Amino acid sequence: MPAGSVRFQSLATSADVAAATAERILAAAEHAVAERGRFLLVLAGGRTPIMAYTMLVGKPAQWDCWSIFFGDERCLPPDHPERNSVAARQAFLDQVPIPPANIYPMPAEQGPVAAALSYQRTLSGSATGKAAAVPRLPFDLVLLGMGEDGHTASLFPGHPVPDGPLVIPVLDAPKPPPKRVSLTPKALCAARAMLVLVTGADKADALRAWRAGADLPVGRVAALGAALVLVDRAAEGAAPP
Ligand code: 6PG
Repeated sequence: MPAGSVRFQSLATSADVAAATAERILAAAEHAVAERGRFLLVLAGGRTPIMAYTMLVGKPAQWDCWSIFFGDERCLPPDHPERNSVAARQAFLDQVPIPPANIYPMPAEQGPVAAALSYQRTLSGSATGKAAAVPRLPFDLVLLGMGEDGHTASLFPGHPVPDGPLVIPVLDAPKPPPKRVSLTPKALCAARAMLVLVTGADKADALRAWRAGADLPVGRVAALGAALVLVDRAAEGAAPP
């Protein structure tokens, strides 16, 4: 998929990418709350997004207007340290006053199929109870990382994604754990803005392939979402500053 509708911004280090991401999250939140009284943010897992989340702690924001969703989740117990929701809580959700009712973790502990159906109901407004009060899409900002193979969220190369659903089960992810839940491109692109974070020398091959036109999940999603891609020098194959 050509990266035609995607913009790439190069920054020196992963910390610069994280800082720029935090700044953009806060700016998007301020704009969304001013315009619509709420800010719907989709979090990504992975080391670079987590670094950005830590930089949100202590910053001024109308946290009570924020709603938090997840782009994907690993099918592990709710308090497992490798859960994206646990990493996000430790990095910032437990340190900012976002109402707990406004945080929508994927119930991945139910297993991929049940969790995908549940989150689909949550996002499509057909859920009951607390989830029934979910603000309507589109999201205001979707954050994504990229794996060494060009995956994003839990959308992996060679793993076709059906067109219909917003959320899918993943049963054989090449990146452990194999069982996951993921938003689909259709859900990820139901967003006003999309940021893709790519840092580290281990991403250089996939980034080069993407920019050369390889058909990768990250490229498909980024093109559909007209994403801004923040990359550091290491991911671009340059020597560290
Ligand atoms: C996951 C993530 C995944 C991640 C990339 C990049 O659950 O594994 O959602 O898509 O964002 O693999 O992760 P790193 O930044 O840690 O390399």
